[in-house]
Amino acid sequence: MAISKFAFCFCLSIAMLSLYANATEVSHDGRAITIDGKRRLLLSGSIHYPRSTSGMWPDLIRKSKEGGLDAIETYVFWNVHEPVRRQYDFTGNLDLVRFLKTVQDEGLYAVLRIGPYVCAEWNYGGLPVWLHNLPGCEIRTANDVYMSEMKNFTTLIVNMMKKEKLFASQGGPIIIAQIENEYGNVQSYYGDAGKAYMNWCSNFAQSLDIGVPWIMCQQSDAPQPMINTCNGWYCENFKPNNDNSPKMWTENWTGWFKSWGGKDPLRTAEDLAFSVARFFQTGGTFQNYYMYHGGTNFGRTAAAYITTTYDYDAPLDEYGNLNQPKWGHLKQLHEILKSMEYTLTHGNITTIDFGNSVSATMYATNDSASCFFGNANSSTDHTITFQGNKYTIPAWSVSILPDCKTEGYNTAKVNTQTSFKVKMMNKAEDEPESLGWLWRPENIDDTRLQGKGEVTANKLMDQKEVAADASDYLWYMTSVYLNKDDPIWSGNMTLKINATGFILHAYVNGEYLGSEWAKYNDYNYVFEKNVKLNPGKNVISLLSATVGFPNYGGGFEVINTGVPGPVVLVGQNGDEMVIKDLSAHKWSYEVGLHGLKNQLFSTDSRYAAKWSAENLPINRMMTWYKTTFKAPLGTDPVVVDLQGLGKGHAWVNGNSLGRYWPSYLAKEDGCSLEACDYRGSYDNNKCVFNCGKPTQRWYHVPRSFMQDGENTLVLFEEFGGNPSLVNFQTVTTGTVCANAYEKHTLELACQGRPISSIKFASFGNPQGRCGSFEKGSCDANNVLSIIQNECVGKEKCSIDVSESKLGSANCGASVKRLAVEAVC
Ligand code: GAL
Repeated sequence: MAISKFAFCFCLSIAMLSLYANATEVSHDGRAITIDGKRRLLLSGSIHYPRSTSGMWPDLIRKSKEGGLDAIETYVFWNVHEPVRRQYDFTGNLDLVRFLKTVQDEGLYAVLRIGPYVCAEWNYGGLPVWLHNLPGCEIRTANDVYMSEMKNFTTLIVNMMKKEKLFASQGGPIIIAQIENEYGNVQSYYGDAGKAYMNWCSNFAQSLDIGVPWIMCQQSDAPQPMINTCNGWYCENFKPNNDNSPKMWTENWTGWFKSWGGKDPLRTAEDLAFSVARFFQTGGTFQNYYMYHGGTNFGRTAAAYITTTYDYDAPLDEYGNLNQPKWGHLKQLHEILKSMEYTLTHGNITTIDFGNSVSATMYATNDSASCFFGNANSSTDHTITFQGNKYTIPAWSVSILPDCKTEGYNTAKVNTQTSFKVKMMNKAEDEPESLGWLWRPENIDDTRLQGKGEVTANKLMDQKEVAADASDYLWYMTSVYLNKDDPIWSGNMTLKINATGFILHAYVNGEYLGSEWAKYNDYNYVFEKNVKLNPGKNVISLLSATVGFPNYGGGFEVINTGVPGPVVLVGQNGDEMVIKDLSAHKWSYEVGLHGLKNQLFSTDSRYAAKWSAENLPINRMMTWYKTTFKAPLGTDPVVVDLQGLGKGHAWVNGNSLGRYWPSYLAKEDGCSLEACDYRGSYDNNKCVFNCGKPTQRWYHVPRSFMQDGENTLVLFEEFGGNPSLVNFQTVTTGTVCANAYEKHTLELACQGRPISSIKFASFGNPQGRCGSFEKGSCDANNVLSIIQNECVGKEKCSIDVSESKLGSANCGASVKRLAVEAVC
């Protein structure tokens, strides 16, 4: 039966309508992003899907929503999706579509920063290393080979999103997309070609027709309609480059990342809240936390000298627990900002400058007015008179008054509890006191130490070129023939190697000679050791081990890595120094290690190898260790404590936990509590801890990596270590402290466990901080027993902070607060 043209058109329109029935129109004006025509104040947070497991995503996203976020931001990580050119992987924790659908299921928006260069402390900034080796390819500049690859991958991602209807224009969650990343910071390095590339990025992005706005962060010359956005610890002074672009902050760094040898960062909740409130005080309307959940650099995804943990001191910790008071203090800030959304996105803005970095900003519409009082002074509190009333604004804080009369929030007054995590054993029944180990050596004697590789060249080659990132490890091997009348022969001889980026282990004639390595941000180093050579043939075998490729800076992509040389023998002939340059010798190369090729870490019985329980070696380099264990009881996150080990890689049931290096201690100096005053500008050196301790001792083992019954842990120990102290622990809330000012409510919660005791309680002017509280000069009498009665035995309790509840504290007119420390 023929259908009429009319009926066909009608059906098609119905189909189209239902296709886009949920379509959301996302646009912007100079004030804000608009969704379905409405200006929005948007709070977003970064969660990078490969830095957790798909099993963790729903909980992380739920906690983000509960924390008051509207959107989840993620980069797209090219090199894990296309590890080999045109071979793609979107499975497991690389399932981007599933991640975005989880975001959508929770009712949140998504911000998709495709890049596909992403920086992110991610190996090679997210670029596949094979790009480096493509003939004619110059990365991140106006180069046809690079642009064609970038186009191929970006289009693939956009088409994947379109197919799954994930753009808001199709009814999906993605409201904003990003091309490139902070190119403006490095553009000058690439000269005119940089500018041309940036313009190409903009045109290319627009041609993809995604129906939502594109952004380019840190790109002050971003061509319209690209929106340029700000990244940093503070962005109140940022101005978009065009009147039609809203003031957007794509990366508010909630803390910082950690490098091997680096210390643990802490950005206080007060300072983070201050930066956010300043941004909204000064006309900002979109703000994203980088990171809201940092997570873990599993596998070999960490960039050069970046630790496996990427906790970032984010509001959700590496394991997904609430990082308190940060999470809660921000949640309250989000609630109050949201309550002012209309006024902040529509009101006329007037600012009164009181001098001394003190200002009041009023947003007023016909029927509403909201105010911010800011004090950017790093040491002095200030009292201002505003519309006839007096207000005290503590140093380095912003007060928010949704009605311009009553302070609803002050960034320096934290009413959320602080929680300290503890690690506990929680061993399964019948789990022995300590783990039983098997071991086997990495077989390096056969070909490596004899200098026989797979590829040869009469030069020293970049590790990227030879290994293409297929493994951390690359052997460089050569032979030197010496006869006794060689002028280098007499006296001491030294092997001197200029290397870069990584770790080097040197072997001569089958004997280990020594090791040397680079440091974070200080890649070049020299290996120099006395060496005894034989007359005749000598074999030099160098094992270079990456700790990730660099990720940032103009030209990071061409930084030489591995052993660029020269490699020389230095001898002494009388007074004369004799140098024998081996750099242009015939070098033989071999990628990887036997144990990795034979998948010794796998649970697949095909790869079962001979392991021994006899003579378990300690401090032996290049050694594989294996043990079995039962998952700790309960549902709390699990970590493996690798104290005692040197450096290497760990797997549980074949899943990589990442690189470990507990023998690398964080620098001794620079940790002091005084330096943790939230007042004054934060940077990553300001408030650090963990000085002198292993940079990273505990490694996350996601629950989904483990099963009921027996699990297997495999370690490849490169430096030599002692596995006898290794054990599994759960991460649980141990102590909680809370502070609340009069007229507020104090809330305490042990996150799933009962409060077992109250260690400290005082209502008045208690001094000190959590863990070392002391009573001040005024203090109400019976507070400890009141709090004990209300809280002990309960999972959570809340107390109204008032004299009627807690008794008189005799503090005169000054503001009183209640401080409590409880044990979970
Ligand atoms: C930014 C970059 C991010 C991340 C951050 C530091 O410059 O855009 O990807 O690297 O620095 O954590």
